[in-house]
Amino acid sequence: MKDPWGRVINYLRISVTDRCNMRCRYCMPMAVPDICHEEILTYEEFLSVCRVAVSLGIDRFKITGGEPLVRKGIVPFIATLKAMPGVNNVTLTTNGIYLKQILPDLEAVGIDGVNISLDTMEAGQFQDITGVDGLYQVKDAIAACAASRIHTKINTVLMEENKDQISALAEIAAYYPVDVRFIEVMPIGVGRNYAGPAEHDMLQCLMRQYPDLHRINEKRGNGPAVYFKSRLLNGRIGFIAANTHRFCIDCNRMRLTSTGQLKPCLCYDTAVELKPLLRAGTDFLDLEEMLVRMFTMAVSIKPKEHCFTEKNKITEYKTMNRIGG
Ligand code: GTP
Ligand code: 5AD
Ligand code: SF4
Repeated sequence: MKDPWGRVINYLRISVTDRCNMRCRYCMPMAVPDICHEEILTYEEFLSVCRVAVSLGIDRFKITGGEPLVRKGIVPFIATLKAMPGVNNVTLTTNGIYLKQILPDLEAVGIDGVNISLDTMEAGQFQDITGVDGLYQVKDAIAACAASRIHTKINTVLMEENKDQISALAEIAAYYPVDVRFIEVMPIGVGRNYAGPAEHDMLQCLMRQYPDLHRINEKRGNGPAVYFKSRLLNGRIGFIAANTHRFCIDCNRMRLTSTGQLKPCLCYDTAVELKPLLRAGTDFLDLEEMLVRMFTMAVSIKPKEHCFTEKNKITEYKTMNRIGG
């Protein structure tokens, strides 16, 4: 399936819940009303959309939240998705708190990769940023993932307050065969209130630590990250620099929110609402046929690019936990 700009769309990010057991300050406000259960798609509803997505050429899926592991039944859902004919790749993005205990189950269902958010190696600062005293649990989860066969990446959002953590966080990739990705904080939702270092500054800093750091063209996932390698590192260093670069030229994705909005782009609030159709009953319409039409329509209105340098052009005001990153 191609969008109007000729890009092949083969990746769907699914936010299975807006809820989270953390409150990372660049992502989610401290006090937010939970969306009530009835508003959230059931796993069966997500799977109906996934079947249609696969029929249109999507073969890779990212499970996000909020925090996907706070939703009951997440492992059977991933298992069913992973077993769906035509699905090649299912990965998870998590804050890591509940990860270690379900890792054997995720491995058993054949998860293809796990991304773990971690912004600091200092316990006090971890609590300041996330609202939770959980650094040791996340570190444990990283160790368990590194010891497994699961391809593991760390997602680090650097702001002014934690930018001095860059060296300590990069060292995770020296110790373990995992990738550490530094993300420029994006002006989406409460992220608008934060500033952080640009890719260029982060790279300069890391070049002092790993002088042979050099860009590689290896494909290591479905997202916009670029990767660097050093002989001093087991894993790779990655950057996701949405402010510095316009990587939209390679955009391959659609997003499905927990309430059933099919979003063509992270930055704009334009979306196709699938829930009314999913819940309309199938007596007088062919659900699958209608979903195909709506999916195709959503892809047909995919914008050419995002523009973070002109913040007034961003029309998406939902917080990241509701969009799924
Ligand atoms: P993989 O590399 O395949 O694991 O995918 P990913 O990097 O897309 O997944 P992840 O959920 O770990 O997201 C990492 C960061 O990339 C988050 O900050 C996302 O918001 C950001 N991101 C993912 N897709 C896009 C995109 O299309 N546009 C922008 N601007 N940011 C994105
Ligand atoms: N800018 C960049 N990344 C963000 N994330 C959440 N909010 C933002 C933001 N404003 C990241 C999280 C998580 C991923 C799903 O999205 O750190 O790793
Ligand atoms: Fe939760 Fe992830 Fe948002 Fe942090 S970044 S509040 S862990 S959804």
